Amino acid sequence: MPSSSPLSDPAIIPDPYPVYAELSEREPVHWCEGLNAWAVLRHADCAEALKDPRLKAERMEEVLGAKFDGRVLPPDSIYHRFTKNVMMYTDPPLHDDLRRATHAGFTRAAHEHYSDVIKKVAADLVAEVPDGVQEIDAVSALAAKLPVNAAVRAFGVPESDLEFVVPRVDTVMTFWSGPQDQPIGLDTLLEQLTELHVYALELLEGKRGEVLPDTVIARLAAAQQRPTEDELRQTVHQLVLLLIALFAPTTPGSVSSGMLSFAQNPRQIERFRSDQGCVDNTANEVVRYNASNQFTWRAATTELEIGNVRIKQGQNLALFLGAANRDQRVFAQPDVFDLDRPNSGKHLSFGLGLHSCLGRQIAALEIKWFFVALFARYPRIRIAGEPEWNTNLEFRSLRLLPLAVG
Ligand code: HEM
Repeated sequence: MPSSSPLSDPAIIPDPYPVYAELSEREPVHWCEGLNAWAVLRHADCAEALKDPRLKAERMEEVLGAKFDGRVLPPDSIYHRFTKNVMMYTDPPLHDDLRRATHAGFTRAAHEHYSDVIKKVAADLVAEVPDGVQEIDAVSALAAKLPVNAAVRAFGVPESDLEFVVPRVDTVMTFWSGPQDQPIGLDTLLEQLTELHVYALELLEGKRGEVLPDTVIARLAAAQQRPTEDELRQTVHQLVLLLIALFAPTTPGSVSSGMLSFAQNPRQIERFRSDQGCVDNTANEVVRYNASNQFTWRAATTELEIGNVRIKQGQNLALFLGAANRDQRVFAQPDVFDLDRPNSGKHLSFGLGLHSCLGRQIAALEIKWFFVALFARYPRIRIAGEPEWNTNLEFRSLRLLPLAVG
């Protein structure tokens, strides 16, 4: 096993794709010391791994030890109660029960309603840019605000509670965003996770700000008629997970990287404006071209083989969704941003199989309606300065995007 992997080098974050392409040919299942995991780079291997029941999603105990130097917590710690009871980090059959418990918020009829709401949210946001402004930082002016506004109007997070929720999610995300560089102490993390749980319970009980009707949270609360103590506890854990996912950098990351892709490819703006098929494929191609969650994790429950490499029981895998999305075995000319691509929908940016993203339809609606609103007002966006990427490959997103809109 070589000791240093190019995947651990933060210098690749602005453009990791040449490194992925090279590794995908030379060593498609590649040991990455910095992640303490096998990095899996090809689409077929990632897709198979995401559906393989021998690879478990439950892994947060190991992550705790890795981030806080062997620290263990008692079983009744909020950390274990949360991670062992949310769909993202559990396996069947518990996973399926937990996911089913949120169904009321994510029915087809509900999504049709959210689509109308999000269309209006996006239009209002773009209309907020004052007339006459020629240049904006598209991250702070648009991409960062879109999911927050959608969280209020489609998910039902009370606007008056944002001040409480957002900083706590930001703290918790420092833990969830990769195994290295944990800047927040364990006590702070546990305290804020507890506060989010107290908040979620009070929200369901109607003791916090006003939840707008017909939103995800209103639907989840309405489905809780006389819940047992266990059911209520599980709903609270899932609601905390949803809050974390809502204010995570994934949606802003996709919206801002999408603006960059369009600004670098003006012909694609023309295609967007002239063909409904391109509008409908925009979310898929935007998230294929740049996955804001570049990799996700699994742990091997038994010895197994992936791409002719032997994985030992207990070893971790980092499934590189962002590399799979540029796999030339699946996508012709993968480094071209192309709304006419016939198979953009094969991207893995929202995962696959039983853990596939619960918010994927809502995130896709946010992306689609955002670009409809943006190009209706600003049909000629152009780069106006050097874009700046963050320093986190796992949740890769732009920090700054100077854009000329005039
Ligand atoms: C562009 C935005 C988003 C991206 C790129 C994204 C990405 C992902 C990915 C890759 C997974 C699968 C993780 C795995 O298999 O290990 C996932 C799962 C999940 N996502 Fe998202 N997500 C986004 C937005 C959202 C939003 C807005 C929500 C809020 C509802 C959400 C809620 C979830 C939940 C609850 C899961 C766990 C599902 C399960 O384990 O059954 N996501 N997401």
